[in-house]
Amino acid sequence: MSSEMNQNMCLPTVFLNGRLMPFEDAYISPLDRGFIFGDGVYEVIPFYDGMGLRCTEHLQRLQRSLDGLEIANPYTIAEWEAHIGALITANHGGNVGVYIQITRGVAKRDFSPPVGLTQTVFMMANPLATPKPEVYEKGISCVSLDDNRWLRCNIKATALLGAVMLKHAGNQEGADEVMLFRDGYLTESSASNIAAVKDGVILCPPLDNLLLAGITYELMIELARKAGLPLQIRRVSRHEVRAADELWIMSSTKEVVPITMLDGRPVGHGSSAGKPGALFRKMFSLFQEYKHGLKPLGR
Ligand code: PDD
Repeated sequence: MSSEMNQNMCLPTVFLNGRLMPFEDAYISPLDRGFIFGDGVYEVIPFYDGMGLRCTEHLQRLQRSLDGLEIANPYTIAEWEAHIGALITANHGGNVGVYIQITRGVAKRDFSPPVGLTQTVFMMANPLATPKPEVYEKGISCVSLDDNRWLRCNIKATALLGAVMLKHAGNQEGADEVMLFRDGYLTESSASNIAAVKDGVILCPPLDNLLLAGITYELMIELARKAGLPLQIRRVSRHEVRAADELWIMSSTKEVVPITMLDGRPVGHGSSAGKPGALFRKMFSLFQEYKHGLKPLGR
């Protein structure tokens, strides 16, 4: 593999089944159930100069995802932190998104999950491509689509074909992202959570089986509450989303980004229509402040 291709994929040193190794040496069996069935879970944890943003919370969510699939966790939180720290150091630090994937392991193809397999554990560090400043100024566009993914979206499973197809459909319509609705209510985006703002109140869809409990989403709620911003966690209808003053998208890789166009129409009203709103700007600065106060792993 050319070094250019390697660079585009991930940083050069990866972690596979307990060992750090050059990306070129990392092989898995084609009978791995992750490859055959998408039988695995994953996490993406942002690190800024070696300092994790809510690393423990990501590892706790990883545990919940593993529990959902009845796959045993191969490591304790302290062991994960040690392996992640070693991976980041081997790749010379910087701002990275650490991708963790655990699959049930390698076995003869059979829908029934065999017991006692050894999990396959893979980690890579990708340069964290947080949006460029102009994206925060301009915002992104979304199209509304019916959420036709499975009913266990609270599990961060590697089987992501539903999300992939929806994102592709959105991109084909010329939008940056998709806004998903199930039975007329907002769920999330293909790989991010969404919040709406109406009359100065932040509206967040409740966490259930229909969406992922985003670590960024939970942090934003915490920061908004601490700052005394009005916030309601409740179902948000398609009608309310269309009438919203602001919409934001949130994830570990995007942080918080304003959605300024929805279904070809500007989000918001009057002179602020189609522009990032005041509450977005407030949340963005609260998030940046929080980020700058991060501590190194294990402290
Ligand atoms: N995606 N919803 C979905 C479906 C997601 O895949 C993600 C994360 C989120 C936001 O979660 P968090 O704030 O914990 O990143 C919500 C990651 C970044 C990904 O799949 O690459």
